[in-house]
Amino acid sequence: MSEDRCIITVGLEVGHRRPAADIFDAAGIGWTHKYGGPHWNDDATRASLEGASAILAGGENFDANTLPDATKLKVIARNGVGYDKVNLDVCTERGIVVTYTPGVMADAVADLSFALLLAAVRHIATGDRAVKSGGYDVPIGEDLPSMTLGLLGCGRIGTETVRRAKGFRMRVLVHDPYVDADSLREIGAEPVDRATLLAESDAISLHVPLSADSVNVVNAEFLRAMKQGSYLINTARGGLVDENALLAALQSGHLAGAGLDCQATEPPVGVSAELVALDNVVASPHTGSLTITARVRMAEMAARSMVDVLQGRVPEQVVNHAVLNKLNLQ
Ligand code: 8YV
Repeated sequence: MSEDRCIITVGLEVGHRRPAADIFDAAGIGWTHKYGGPHWNDDATRASLEGASAILAGGENFDANTLPDATKLKVIARNGVGYDKVNLDVCTERGIVVTYTPGVMADAVADLSFALLLAAVRHIATGDRAVKSGGYDVPIGEDLPSMTLGLLGCGRIGTETVRRAKGFRMRVLVHDPYVDADSLREIGAEPVDRATLLAESDAISLHVPLSADSVNVVNAEFLRAMKQGSYLINTARGGLVDENALLAALQSGHLAGAGLDCQATEPPVGVSAELVALDNVVASPHTGSLTITARVRMAEMAARSMVDVLQGRVPEQVVNHAVLNKLNLQ
């Protein structure tokens, strides 16, 4: 048995299996499950890292505040694709490898983007509330094939969202300066500039990572430029949206509705809570990747990358490549 110990702060059991734990057991590496849950805080992160060599991490903050006592930590494996809560410079400086799980959750998140789009456009949650309370009315909706869907960002999750939109015979516009225009045309999308995306889309779905450049990218000016009566779908990060501006756009009726899987504060408080309380908002508790298939694959990918680092190998999905210069991994 190795002296290393892995910490798992995400759900241990997925569909009657323990995908990460099975991999650690097979490698002879001990593990402890400390489920994070929605009210996990930085003190709990700091305490959980004491003595840990590796962590399979949910949405915790990893930075100069939470890492000082993590003297044995060699790898942080994000159970997800976003690493906006991981300070890569601090990790690299401390020789900690950061990994993530791209690709394996694209179907799950694209499915939820579509679920939220349909729920918003066809007033599913409003109808559900009405029927359960003795009512029987909802506002009129629209056919998806008569609508134009715009994507801000088109990586793996965006690409799967485009495929779904084409299945619904929608016109699809994409604004993503980092993706080659021909590869967008190949999947049936029209590459456009930002102004065209905002002016011509009946619904805009966000598929960009949260970074210093993208924080509050959906601000009052962005929302004003969106079509009257259009929808916003966010399965990426709450921090992409200026929530006060979105609240105003939804209350004034400029936007017809929004589907929000993530909020600026999670669980939502303050303006995030006001936003999810609106009748024309359908919200979910950051569950884009919460399917059995995605979570099994994510846990397996994350656990393998942890075992790789602990056994001295370079894992496949490294985020902070610069750290590899400081380590002696094969
Ligand atoms: C979270 C996500 O990882 O991929 C991401 O970055 O947002 C989610 O899948 C998950 O909710 C935390 O375990």
